[in-house]
Amino acid sequence: MEDQELVRLALEARERAYVPYSKFQVGAALLTGAGRVYQGCNIECASYSPTNCAERTAFFKAISEGESDFVAIAVVGGPSGAPVKRICPPCGVCRQVMREFCDPTDFRVILASGLNDWVVYRLDELLPLGFGPENMYKEKGGTNHAHV
Ligand code: THU
Repeated sequence: MEDQELVRLALEARERAYVPYSKFQVGAALLTGAGRVYQGCNIECASYSPTNCAERTAFFKAISEGESDFVAIAVVGGPSGAPVKRICPPCGVCRQVMREFCDPTDFRVILASGLNDWVVYRLDELLPLGFGPENMYKEKGGTNHAHV
């Protein structure tokens, strides 16, 4: 799939953002290796902290449908009621979720400031030396240091 089509789908998803508090609409479109696309928008709550970013909405939709092979994500964001003008870089929490499920040397993050204008980063550029699943190791023999 062309990057521009993924940007278009992110712009479409942005229209569905639920953002009564920030009034900042974000959309994402996540492409799998099989060519399927999962769209996401940000979803806010009156108690603020349950808020879910557009990128994580897209990832959690895909993962909950059994997907595990991700190629790229397009992200767009900007104040409600106006076309996007600038890029919207993913927050640290979303970068960490990408790190959990994607190859950081391969996964492409497409940040668009409009349908005809975008920049592309690899995940390891956005999250250098990220902590991921391969960094979790266990001592052989099951040694633990519990003081019991
Ligand atoms: N937001 C996203 O959805 N993705 C980002 O990458 C940055 C921030 C949302 C969270 C919140 O609903 C609003 O944008 C303002 O922070």
